[in-house]
Amino acid sequence: MSSCPIDSKVIRPIRFIAGQCQMLDQRLLPSEEVWNTYTTYEEVAEAIRSMVVRGAPAIGVAAAIGVALGVRDIETESASEFFQQLEEICAVLAATRPTAVNLFWALERMKHFAESNLDRSVVELKIGLEYEALAITQEDEQINRKMGSNGAPLLPDGSRVLTHCNAGALATAAYGTALGVIRAAVESGKKIAVIADETRPFLQGARLTAWELQKDNIPVTLICDNMAGYLMSKGEIDCVIVGADRIAANGDVANKIGTYTVAVLAKEHQIPFYVAAPISTIDLSLADGSQIPIEERDGREITHIKDYQLAPSGINTCNPAFDVTPNRLVTAIITENGVVKGDYLTGLTQVVNKR
Ligand code: MRU
Repeated sequence: MSSCPIDSKVIRPIRFIAGQCQMLDQRLLPSEEVWNTYTTYEEVAEAIRSMVVRGAPAIGVAAAIGVALGVRDIETESASEFFQQLEEICAVLAATRPTAVNLFWALERMKHFAESNLDRSVVELKIGLEYEALAITQEDEQINRKMGSNGAPLLPDGSRVLTHCNAGALATAAYGTALGVIRAAVESGKKIAVIADETRPFLQGARLTAWELQKDNIPVTLICDNMAGYLMSKGEIDCVIVGADRIAANGDVANKIGTYTVAVLAKEHQIPFYVAAPISTIDLSLADGSQIPIEERDGREITHIKDYQLAPSGINTCNPAFDVTPNRLVTAIITENGVVKGDYLTGLTQVVNKR
């Protein structure tokens, strides 16, 4: 693939430079822009678990860098012993968040690289894994730009586009998936106005999508999650575009909690509902969305905003972080290898296997 344009204005939330991983702490946005530095795989695992970095492709990128950091400290000359310790590092990173398949995809790719180079010295394996993590990072941006150009024609000039959660530069190495499609449409000269759901309880829409679109001067209006139906009924939304954390072989889509609600509303109002995701988000091993593991997070995310308590102490909570939108509600899935519609089983298999 060709290299990406170097533009200092482009938001890249993860940097892997001089043997260190730096991540923009997304928990603090938009009020503070703080970069944290990580030098061990355990620290990277904790950053994923605690949502310093979040969003399916970004989690994959961070995990790959975590592996590269982790293997540096392996002290052995034996390739098989090296591989065993590499698997232990991957197991720690894999145990951080269960839903986004990009995490497991990236770890498998790192393991596969090592496995296919076991005839090399341990020093060469360490260097090779560092390059592999860098390649995953750079390719993610290129993939998102390709997805953007594939998806941009679906957004009419002048359209008002609803999005849920943050599927932007912050959720990837750069550019974004759903927001990448919006960026590409804007770059092609179209006027696009974004309506961003705030996305309770973690507020990725209010804190992150609003922040990065404002930074890019793309018009964005923030709404509470429960306002989307009203706006649709008034004819104020022309289409919906979201990202995904895992897509089953039949086209069922796991994404941020609340996505399913938006998809049902879009169907009721005959509004196209698009999903933008790289092929690394497609999990052909799962027949349908009922098999996708859904992360359950701490109820404190619902009862509190930072340290401010919103609900009575001791209240029961239920906090699934994702839901599954059935394929019948999805108008099209935009990938870097093409746009899939209709027969998702055939179409997704084709884009995944396209070289
Ligand atoms: O819990 P998060 O913030 O990691 O959830 C993120 C999402 O649900 C995104 O929509 C998804 O990962 C797509 S990101 C390109």
